[in-house]
Amino acid sequence: MTADPEGLLAAMTVEEKIGQLNLLPAGEGMATGAGDATPLAERLDAGLVGAVFGVKSRESARAMQERALAGSRHGAPLYFAEDVIHGHRTVFPLPIALACSWDMALIEETAAHAAREAAEDGVHQVYAPMVDVSRDPRWGRVAESPGEDPTLAALYAAACVRGLQGADVAAEGRVAACLKHFIAYGAPQSGRDYDNASLGWAELFEVHAPPFRAGVEAGAASAMVAFNAVNRTPMHAHAPLVEGWLRGRLGFEGLVVSDYTGVRELQAHGLGDRAATVARALHAGVDMDMVGEDYLAALPALARDGIDCAESGVRFTAAEIVALIDRACLRVLRFKQRLGLLADPFRSLRGEGPPRAPSATGRALARRAAGASAVLLKNDGVLPLRSGPLTAALVGPLADDRANLIGTWSVAGDAAQVRTLREGLEGREGLTLICAPGANLVEEPWLVDRLNCHGPTVRPDPRPEAEMIAEAVAAARLADIVIAAVGEAKEHAGEASSRLSPDLPAPQRRLIAALAKTGRPLVVAVCAGRPLALAEVAEAADALVMAWHGGVEAGPGLADILTGAAEPSARLAAALPAHPGQTPLSHAAEPTGRPNPGRFRKFLTGWLDLPDGPGQTDGLYPFGFGLAYTTFRHGAPQADRREGLGEEDRLAVRIDVTNAGDRPGVETVQLYLSDPVARSTRPARALKAFRRLSLAPGETGRATFEIDVEMLRYPLADGPEDERRVWDPGAFTLWLGPNSRDAQALEIAWRA
Ligand code: BGC
Repeated sequence: MTADPEGLLAAMTVEEKIGQLNLLPAGEGMATGAGDATPLAERLDAGLVGAVFGVKSRESARAMQERALAGSRHGAPLYFAEDVIHGHRTVFPLPIALACSWDMALIEETAAHAAREAAEDGVHQVYAPMVDVSRDPRWGRVAESPGEDPTLAALYAAACVRGLQGADVAAEGRVAACLKHFIAYGAPQSGRDYDNASLGWAELFEVHAPPFRAGVEAGAASAMVAFNAVNRTPMHAHAPLVEGWLRGRLGFEGLVVSDYTGVRELQAHGLGDRAATVARALHAGVDMDMVGEDYLAALPALARDGIDCAESGVRFTAAEIVALIDRACLRVLRFKQRLGLLADPFRSLRGEGPPRAPSATGRALARRAAGASAVLLKNDGVLPLRSGPLTAALVGPLADDRANLIGTWSVAGDAAQVRTLREGLEGREGLTLICAPGANLVEEPWLVDRLNCHGPTVRPDPRPEAEMIAEAVAAARLADIVIAAVGEAKEHAGEASSRLSPDLPAPQRRLIAALAKTGRPLVVAVCAGRPLALAEVAEAADALVMAWHGGVEAGPGLADILTGAAEPSARLAAALPAHPGQTPLSHAAEPTGRPNPGRFRKFLTGWLDLPDGPGQTDGLYPFGFGLAYTTFRHGAPQADRREGLGEEDRLAVRIDVTNAGDRPGVETVQLYLSDPVARSTRPARALKAFRRLSLAPGETGRATFEIDVEMLRYPLADGPEDERRVWDPGAFTLWLGPNSRDAQALEIAWRA
C-alpha cells in the first residue's frame, strides 16, 4: 500500500475515489433521514466505503476494517466515526448544561475523557462539538448547543477541540473533532428543526460564525454542514460559505462531511435531480456523503459526461467533475493520514474492547460536571438543606429517573448507569426521604408515543392525576421541606424535538401549584433539555435550580448542590424566557427605535400580555445569571484612562469583588460592551470576556480585562463573500457585573 495520500490518489480509479467519499452507517441505530442505506458488507467487499459511523464495539469495527482492506486494491482503510455529544460511555450533562459551568478547563476535561472512551471503542472521529448558537428555546437541539452567546460558544468550541484532539489527533486516546452544523442551524424559522434560516449576513458572521472560527483556530480536523438553507441556499450546496468562507477565509484544511442524507435532501429543497444536486454539493465542498449514497450513484456518470442542466442552473464539464472528485478524495485521504490510519489501519482497533460501565474517575468527573452545570436561580434561604434531622418529601416525575436524565444524544450511554436524585440524596446524614412521583411528565398519549421513539423513557403512571397529586401533597405535609424534580423527557429536547411552547408540561405545573398550597418550603429542580419559561414555577418555589439533564451522575451532582456539599457556581448560557412566546430571545438583541424600559407604555417594543419588568427584554432570568450560597459585593469598575485612547492602545479595566457571605463561592465577572453610536445598530450588550474568581468568605479578588481595538470590531457583510471587520471610533460603554442585566457601566472613548 502507498502510505501517502497523493500516491494513493494517483493509483486509484475514479470509481475507487468515489468510494472514498461514501460515508455509511453501521446500521445498528435508528435510520432518521431520507431513504435507506444499502447493505454495508456488499459495499465493503466492493471497496466502495470511505468511512463508517455508529459502530457499537471495537470488535465489530475491526471486522469491518479487515473486510474493507480485503475489498480495496490499495488497502485503503476505513475510519470510524460516532456521535459523542456529551460523553461516550460516561455520559456528562448536556452541552447546554456544560456551557452553563463557564468553566473551560472542566469542559476540556469532559471532552478529553469522552475522547479516551471513544478511542477505546475504535472511534477515530466524533461528530462534536456541536457549536450552533441558538436563541430559540423552541428548537430542540438547544440541548446540544453551547447556548445563545457567540463569545461563550467560541470558548466552548475551542475547549472541546483541545479536549478531543489534544496536540495530535493520532495520539492514543485522541479523536478528530467535527465542528457542526455549519452554519446557522441554530436559527431555524419558528424554532422548527431543519427549517431554514433567513438572517442578515452581518448577523450570520457576528452571531453564528465565531464558534466555527474558534474551532478552526483550535485545529479542528473536520466539520459537518447543516441541513438547513441559509438565505435560500441549502448549506449542502453553499459554495460561498463552505469553500469560500470556511476554507478560503478561515483557512480550514480539514474534511467536510454531509449530515445524514443531507446531499439527498437537496432534491427536496428544490435544487434539482440527483445528478444536479450531487454536482452542487461536491462543488460546494461537501467531501463525504453520509448515508444517502447519492455520490456513489451519480458521480460515475457525471465524471463521464459532465452536466448541463438549464432548469437547475448546474453546469460542469466531465473534467471539472473529475477534478472535484480528486479534491474531495484527497481530503479524505489526508484526513486518514492525519488520523494515523494510512500508516496503521488498525489504530485503536486491536485487542479486547473496554468495559461498558463508566469508571470511577469518569463518574467523579461527571458528578463534578453535573454540580457545576446546575444554575441556582432563586433561593429564599431554604438552600442548602439544613443539616441535622430533616424530613424531605421528594416528589416529581424525575426524582427517581434514569431513562430521561441521561439526556438526548447519548448513543453509547446506558441509562441503567444513571444515578438518580433519590439515590443522590439517600444516605446523607440526618435526611429522611418520603417519595412520591406526584405527576406524569406529560398527559397526552400521542405525545408519550413520540417521546418514546428511541425506546420507552416515559412510562405514565396509570393512576388518576388527583390521586397522584394527593399522594405527593400528603408526603409534603409529613415533611419539613419539599424537593420537586420536574422537567422534560429525554426526547422532549434534541433532534426533531422542537416545541411550540417551551414550558413545564401542564400536569407538572398543576403538581407544583398543589405543593405550593401546602405552605411547606418548596425547592424545585428543573431537569430539562432546553431553557423553559418558568414564571409560575419561580413564583411558587422558595428555591429554584435549573439542573438540565445531568447524565450518569445527574442525581449525586444535583444532590451535592442541594445539600451544599458543592457550591453552586453555574451561570445561564441562555436566557430563560418570561413566557413561552417570548422567543427568540437574547441579551444581545439590538435596540429598536422604541426601547422598552421595562415599564408598560403603549407603543414600545414589548409584550402587551407580559407584566412589567426587565424580563420584557431579556427574559425572566437573563443570560449569565446564577446565584451562589454566598453573596458577592462588586466594587466600582476602574479603568487606567477613559479617553484619548487610540488605535494602538490597550486599556486595562478592573473590578474588585468581595465574598461578603460566610461560604466559599465562585463569582463569574462578566464584561459586556455596547457601542451606542455606530454605522449600524449594535447589540444592546455583547459579552466580550469573563473571569471566574474563586473566593473564600471575606476574601476580595480582582478581575482584570484588557480592551483593545480588536474587541471593538464587528463584522459587516452584504453577502456571504463579503465579511469585513470594522470599528467605529467614539463612545463605548463597558458593563462589568455578575450577569448581562445587573452590570455597572464604565464609559470610555476611543479615537481613530
Ligand atoms: C444529526 C447529526 C449527527 C448525524 C449522524 C444527524 O441526524 O443532525 O448531528 O451527527 O445525524 O448521526
